[in-house]
Amino acid sequence: MTNKDFLDRSYEVFAEVEEEFKGFLDEGLEPRGPEMLYELASGLGIRGGGSALDIGCGEGRHSIALASRFGLRVKGIDPVPRHIELARRDLSARAQADPGVSDAVSFESGRAEAIPAGDASVDLIWCRDVLVHVEELSAAYAEFRRVLAPGGRVLVYQMFCTELMEPREADRLLPTMGCVEANMRPDYAEAAMRTAGLRIDECIVLGTEWGQYGQEHSGKGGRNLLHAARLIQNPDRYIERFGRENYDIALGDCLWHVYRLIGKLSDRVYVLSAADRA
Ligand SMILES: C[S@@+](CC[C@H](N)C(=O)[O-])C[C@H]1O[C@@H](n2cnc3c(N)ncnc32)[C@H](O)[C@@H]1O
Repeated sequence: MTNKDFLDRSYEVFAEVEEEFKGFLDEGLEPRGPEMLYELASGLGIRGGGSALDIGCGEGRHSIALASRFGLRVKGIDPVPRHIELARRDLSARAQADPGVSDAVSFESGRAEAIPAGDASVDLIWCRDVLVHVEELSAAYAEFRRVLAPGGRVLVYQMFCTELMEPREADRLLPTMGCVEANMRPDYAEAAMRTAGLRIDECIVLGTEWGQYGQEHSGKGGRNLLHAARLIQNPDRYIERFGRENYDIALGDCLWHVYRLIGKLSDRVYVLSAADRA
């Protein structure tokens, strides 16, 4: 584009619609948010009393929600001892108010690649925001297939890189966030699912939706952007107080959310079942 073309387009043509365009952009697109995972789970036909595994359960919030919303017996597993401790503490704090849920949920140490559950014993595998971290993705999916009961379903939520992510941005961000680069390519992840004997029943590409949702409901994206700007402007201020490692993690975490908001990262939801069963 010549300089004259640019001046004409920006200051003549675009200027005429700019105000109307920005007003139109202020109208939300009704993005879906995290609640959609529960809506999806409720449509999978898993009956109350069935068993669920929350793989990489973190502090156990979703394990407890799966039990209280759907009446499932849920085991949450995670390799980080602090997560299991906090999850158990939260569960016992609920025991008096909600003994049914408290009895239905348990937490134990475990990894996706070696699931502490018997063959064909689980009706719902819930794996939210975990698989980017797993070094042997195919081993994890083989385990999903092994423990899945007849008629069982797998619900995976995971982040992927898009073509907007530049290689140097990925090289900087992914190791800081403990992500395995290959896992963040949809073709690689889908091949691991299929090789393990799982069928992809549904794949929902969320793009920037959860990022928009977070911004519209709590200003999360904008806050991360502002934090990234501060971290970049004055690294020493934060490194002196919290150390280099924590600085890198804080910046990586902010950029993760910003990249999702601008489409360099895109989350997806997969619903899977055993490939050899109708
Ligand atoms: C971003 S957190 C998500 C926690 C929770 N699923 C949620 O959605 O709130 C990622 C979790 O994955 C766990 N994780 C990391 N590597 C794992 C592995 N190999 N197997 C199972 N969980 C793992 C971490 O300990 C952490 O709790």
